[in-house]
Amino acid sequence: MYGLKKRIVLSDVEPSREIRGFLVSCAVQMMKRRPIIGGNWKMNTDVESGMLLAGAVADHVGTCDCCEVVIYPPFLYLQAVDSVIDQTSLCLGAQNIWHEANGAFTGEVSGAMLNDIGVSSVLIGHSERRHVVGESDTLIAKKMKTSILDGFQTVLCIGETLEEREAGKTLEVVLGQLQTGLADVAPAQMQMVVIAYEPVWAIGTGKTASPEDAQSVHKEIRKCICGLYDESIANTLRIQYGGSVKPENAAKLFACQDIDGALVGGAALSADSFNAIVTAACESYKAQEV
Ligand code: PGA
Repeated sequence: MYGLKKRIVLSDVEPSREIRGFLVSCAVQMMKRRPIIGGNWKMNTDVESGMLLAGAVADHVGTCDCCEVVIYPPFLYLQAVDSVIDQTSLCLGAQNIWHEANGAFTGEVSGAMLNDIGVSSVLIGHSERRHVVGESDTLIAKKMKTSILDGFQTVLCIGETLEEREAGKTLEVVLGQLQTGLADVAPAQMQMVVIAYEPVWAIGTGKTASPEDAQSVHKEIRKCICGLYDESIANTLRIQYGGSVKPENAAKLFACQDIDGALVGGAALSADSFNAIVTAACESYKAQEV
């Protein structure tokens, strides 16, 4: 299913930095990646509405294999939601994890506990955890390491604030968060990682980055991964966009070369809108010719 149409091999002759940058940017343009759509419910729903929402999404996802779909309900409802989606291809995710296995950590939830109840994916470094709760890059790196060792698909969320964007620091911030978040992640572990680029100013505000702006940051993220790891890892890594994704803007975002799905907040709370975003991702995947 996956494969480069044309693989560019960096030759024995060490190319200059500029040429290497050019080759890398060419090499990371031609991969067909299965999109991943996440529904981040944040601190919303109750047990009954959560189960209904999950059931409606599971019915829509059915046995579709052109798109991976994960929902991230509040911790308290994970088990109830799991009972609804257990036999379906919809995956269960957690919005957070603690980096220690057990012990005196009041209010926290470990990877073993999440494993116990059927969670397969974990969000780490969401902007609300960075900016509202105050999680540091160091803590996020520890959580990345633990989550991967505990066997979870691990979604590292990164993104700049409006002030950082206006100060021209978007790439400095985003690539800095990427590098610190992945500091302890070995190349072989990168298959368990998904990156979610979520500009903070676009989250929950109704303002979406234009497809061009989002694509250009995604492309830089992929190039950075190529430098940190290698071309093959960069080419297979999925990079979701997040920030006011809706049925109305999803298709244009998914048509971009380096956007491999979405992490959806507000629109994930309605089965109709979330399912429409899933459909847009499937259609974009099927339309790719690579
Ligand atoms: P939003 O949230 O879609 O409501 O902007 C996205 C997110 O926080 O992951």
